[in-house]
Amino acid sequence: MRIIVGITGASGIVIAVTLLKRLKEIDGVETHLIVTDGGELTIRDETDFDVYDIKRLADVVYDVHEMDASIASGSFLVEGMVIVPCTMKTVAGIVCGYSDNLLLRAADVCIKEKRKLVLVPREMPFSRIHLRNMKELANLGVVIMPPVMTFYNTKMTIESHVDHIINKILLQLGLPADATEWQGKDRN
Ligand SMILES: Cc1cc2nc3c(=O)[nH]c(=O)nc-3n(C[C@H](O)[C@H](O)[C@H](O)COP(=O)(O)O)c2cc1C
Repeated sequence: MRIIVGITGASGIVIAVTLLKRLKEIDGVETHLIVTDGGELTIRDETDFDVYDIKRLADVVYDVHEMDASIASGSFLVEGMVIVPCTMKTVAGIVCGYSDNLLLRAADVCIKEKRKLVLVPREMPFSRIHLRNMKELANLGVVIMPPVMTFYNTKMTIESHVDHIINKILLQLGLPADATEWQGKDRN
């Protein structure tokens, strides 16, 4: 099962790194990674991760300018794609079908082939332009999943917030998640 993971230059790189680690643990999943130039800059500016170490977590890594890569074509079968974190620039590129890098092209292919596309868009606040673009994508069947904090888990750590987001992404991809099902509040 091939999953494309795209990392763009938004804040929240740790979510992508955690997702790649989780996908690596799942049998039968083959990860295909693209990091935009903005993504590489944000990895350096925001984290202590080495870009090379992040890339080593994936099974296949593409240069974002490699427009003739397999994933640029719909004939190369993939289960779906997650862009995490996803910038407003990439959201705009996808909504316009402006595929001037491999990540945008791969997302465009997912939409045209009616494959699962999950975006973890990050900006704050969202402008009307951002919201309009995301609404347009949602109307096309793209899953819009901003990295929203969750307060009903017992732990209140950054790690638990990130894990919760990862589990939600895995559920969208139909992959095993550690998510504890909410059973309603126990009032006894
Ligand atoms: C440290 C850092 C954090 C950024 N965070 C965000 C963000 O959260 N959301 C966003 O839309 N852009 C953010 N940007 C701006 C994008 O990186 C910039 O628009 C870039 O051109 C996006 O290109 P890409 O989508 O191809 O990665 C950030 C830039 C830097 C350097």
